[in-house]
Amino acid sequence: MYKPISVSPHAPMRVRPRPSMEAVGAEQEVKSFDQVKHNFEIKGSIGRGVFGVVAKVIDLRNNKECALKRPTRNLDIERECEMMERLNKSSGVAPQLYECGSDYILMELINGKTLTTWLDGQDLEKIPGMMRTYADLIDTIHDAGIVHGDLNTGNIIVTPSGWTAIDFGFSMSKKEDSESWDTIAATLLVISGSLFYPKGPELEDLQKNLRSWIKGVKDTSDIRDIADHIESSLEPAKAEFDESEGPIDEFLRRLTSLIKQ
Ligand SMILES: Nc1ncnc2c1ncn2[C@@H]1O[C@H](COP(=O)(O)OP(=O)(O)OP(=O)(O)O)[C@@H](O)[C@H]1O
Ligand SMILES: [Mg+2]
Repeated sequence: MYKPISVSPHAPMRVRPRPSMEAVGAEQEVKSFDQVKHNFEIKGSIGRGVFGVVAKVIDLRNNKECALKRPTRNLDIERECEMMERLNKSSGVAPQLYECGSDYILMELINGKTLTTWLDGQDLEKIPGMMRTYADLIDTIHDAGIVHGDLNTGNIIVTPSGWTAIDFGFSMSKKEDSESWDTIAATLLVISGSLFYPKGPELEDLQKNLRSWIKGVKDTSDIRDIADHIESSLEPAKAEFDESEGPIDEFLRRLTSLIKQ
């Protein structure tokens, strides 16, 4: 089941001041990457999205590996940093924020695979569990008073200790329900993608309805209901798969009986 990641021991160094800190005169200078680049050794690119490039860097002040994001478009970096920091502090399911500059974000490097990469080659039976983990992640983000707004498979990193949300470029404080359920539905379609290939008569009903159920998702309880439906549909189908002997199974069975003779 879903477990939040543990927070890295990398101490936050300097975070862009919040309005409340500015009000009490504690404003610090917000630096540009050009002013601080001597602090970093760039090890290589780890990602490129539509809105930014992300590199693995060594912070030469403490010799720690970090992720450095340089947005390529004029997004609200301060809000992105604030949402990430709030979620990290409340639950640990976001990277720890180290520095928020005027044109860069220095944050914890999350070691894992994006959900996009990780999904490749996963078993059919894992789909309901993945959907529940996704629902848990959405609930955790909402419980922190945040809507992520872009929780697609490229913005989730799967680590041995759980799923971490990244990329808070579209995030905001949760007022009513302003989450992007269309993005969430699209992500659920990707997670359940392999179910849409013909798999035999047991799954026909599920295959007929799944797309419209997913498109109607408006709440995490809807996601959990769909996960339950998939699980109960997979049970009889699984028994059928187990009974049918493929050519490799037959070859192995014959080989085993020959060896025994
Ligand atoms: N803290 C991190 N640790 C490890 N990898 C990261 C981290 N942040 C980003 N990445 C990698 O960089 C990629 C791009 O990052 P991010 O999604 O923040 O950029 P973006 O340009 O805002 O993306 P998008 O096109 O989704 O809006 C991610 O998909 C991920 O592979
Ligand atoms: Mg992204």
